[in-house]
Amino acid sequence: MLLWQCLALFLLVTAHACKAHKCHKFTDLTPGHAFLGTRVRVKLLLYTRHDDTCGDLLSHNDLTQHPQFNMSKPTTFIVHGYRPSGSPPIWLNITKKILDREDLNVIMVDWNYGATNLDYFKVVKYTYRVADNITAFIKMMQNHGASLSSIHMIGVSLGAHISGFVGAKLNGELGRITGLDAAGPGFNGKGLEDRLDPTDAQFVDVLHTDIDFLGYREPLGHIDFYANGGTDQPGCPKTILSGTSYFKCDHQRSVRLFLDTVTGKCSTRAFPCSSYKDFLAGKCLNCDHFGDAGCPSFGYDVIQWKEALLKQRQLKYYFSTNAKSPFCRTSYKVDVMIWNKSERWGYITIKLYGDDDKEAVATIDHKASQFSKYTETELLAQFDRDVQQVKKVSMLFSTGKVLQPKRTLRILRVRLTHLEHKKPLCRYDVLLKENEDVTFRPYPCEESQF
Ligand SMILES: *[C@@H]1O[C@H](CO)[C@@H](O)[C@H](O)[C@H]1NC(C)=O
Ligand SMILES: *[C@@H]1O[C@H](CO)[C@@H](O)[C@H](O)[C@H]1NC(C)=O
Ligand SMILES: *[C@@H]1O[C@H](CO)[C@@H](O)[C@H](O)[C@H]1NC(C)=O
Ligand SMILES: *[C@@H]1O[C@H](CO)[C@@H](O)[C@H](O)[C@H]1NC(C)=O
Repeated sequence: MLLWQCLALFLLVTAHACKAHKCHKFTDLTPGHAFLGTRVRVKLLLYTRHDDTCGDLLSHNDLTQHPQFNMSKPTTFIVHGYRPSGSPPIWLNITKKILDREDLNVIMVDWNYGATNLDYFKVVKYTYRVADNITAFIKMMQNHGASLSSIHMIGVSLGAHISGFVGAKLNGELGRITGLDAAGPGFNGKGLEDRLDPTDAQFVDVLHTDIDFLGYREPLGHIDFYANGGTDQPGCPKTILSGTSYFKCDHQRSVRLFLDTVTGKCSTRAFPCSSYKDFLAGKCLNCDHFGDAGCPSFGYDVIQWKEALLKQRQLKYYFSTNAKSPFCRTSYKVDVMIWNKSERWGYITIKLYGDDDKEAVATIDHKASQFSKYTETELLAQFDRDVQQVKKVSMLFSTGKVLQPKRTLRILRVRLTHLEHKKPLCRYDVLLKENEDVTFRPYPCEESQF
């Protein structure tokens, strides 16, 4: 490029940046506001790749003021939930994280005025008004050429139902709604028109993390993920002594799990199953009906399974996570066949080592497994991280009983199958003495067949 061309381009870009709009922040209120109660106000803050950290306050009736708002691009709305503290959500960064992934319009729906109120059930009533407001805005976007199918709404807690109401008013033509731990109180047991449901958009994906308290228990979408069973999340406080985080940790975990999938930090497969217990017991590891794609990945990318999922019966999908980010775990199917005559009950811990010698650990201890002679016992092992090239495996067998003599488990064959890459690893004839680590090098199963 010629020098003057560079210079012209430079001036153009700078001029554009200099015309920078005023930075609008998410409304920051206090518990005092919650005490007095607030009335609904809907602020729409636009973020684009032109400026992914500074929100542009959108007009509710004149879009021509916002040249950055390009209707040819997809638009993602983020809708928060109840805010008893009045403070902005800590996950506002989601806008930037989405823009790092994709070039689209991200609109943060700020209805903090309205959501900040000690009276939760009053706020539940406000959700319809917020939905009406967003619906009017989307209709205006349509008049400027936006297509409903390119709109994705991500709703957190009450925001999930708000997204559902918007979708219903737009005849289910929105492209996608993602519900992150959709609110339970005030919605449990309600009919389709009073909660999020699969007819609200072309594709509805829902994550459940707190079904026994703040979240919604039953499935609401085309696919419903129940992280760690959907009730209690690892790393969240188990007693009220930890203060308010005891109440909200499980619920808020939904956003943190989803964020990990937006950044692509990790991806987790989820498995259709009738219960979390059966899932942990390794009864639901077959993903054949999804063909080469395998079972759906939880989170931002589940849209890739849309066609397959629309054909399926509505089911619950399960996965488990680590206690902190990166939350995703790596699943293996472990088949164990033993020599010993009598049957054995016990727990198994498996560690995988790769090139860097950093280990990945899986403990199979949710219930004692039964190992019996020449019968293959199928287990699900979920490792806290993925190991690219498994060089070494170590196994530990325990019965959990201290008073009886130490048991041994003589393994005829152990086979470890990564549920995504397949290519099983095997080892034959391993003697496991109770509570003693045994380390061995595994081989590709087909080569070591004898
Ligand atoms: C949406 O809310 C904003 C601010 O609260 C208001 O100015 C606007 O008129 C509302 N839109 C509709 C269609 O009610
Ligand atoms: C709007 O987006 C489309 C599709 O990404 C692009 O081709 C077009 O140049 C954009 N228009 C403006 C004014 O940036
Ligand atoms: C948001 O992201 C920025 C940059 O990635 C970081 O500096 C900031 O601490 C983040 N804020 C929160 C609340 O996570
Ligand atoms: C299991 O097999 C191992 C190896 O043959 C043997 O040492 C052990 O005593 C057996 N345990 C029982 C309870 O049969």
